[in-house]
Amino acid sequence: MQHRPIAFIGPMGSGKSRVAEQLARRLDRPCLDLDTEVEQRARQSIATIFASAGETRFRELECAALRDVLVDTSAVIATGGGVVLAERNRDLLKKHAIVVWLQADLPTRLERMRDERAQRPLLHGDDPAATLAKLDAIRTPLYRETADIMVETSGLNVDEVTDQVVMML
Ligand code: S3P
Repeated sequence: MQHRPIAFIGPMGSGKSRVAEQLARRLDRPCLDLDTEVEQRARQSIATIFASAGETRFRELECAALRDVLVDTSAVIATGGGVVLAERNRDLLKKHAIVVWLQADLPTRLERMRDERAQRPLLHGDDPAATLAKLDAIRTPLYRETADIMVETSGLNVDEVTDQVVMML
């Protein structure tokens, strides 16, 4: 029997992509990154999609990509921080995957994203900390509602977070 896929959710900078890669290696399963999937389908970077077509279009592409990647897979999947905004995505994740919520405090997330902010259109304003806090207010209850497991990652490296996830699966 095929394993259930494992999907990581959580805010930008919580480490979803790196931990998903590491966990996939340990479990010898394929790894999928939903942002990469969207970029490959659109043949554009996330930043370009946001700039040329807007966030609504990005969310449509994200939704279609999630539906497709969850079908018939045992992969470890890293999602984007906003995937939980759509009820349909939350339902899909709950139905098909073991959902792991990676949490991290704000300073940790900002530090992890220090050199990568250009790739994250939602952080282009001059006060990323305030932006993240606003997103948290909306999204934290949605992460909680969707997750089977929560791992606090502040102060932990990728290996240590992966250890925690393996213990909790
Ligand atoms: C987003 C998070 C990004 C990416 C897009 C929007 C969000 O993914 O999907 O920029 O709404 O939080 P990461 O969480 O992997 O940075």
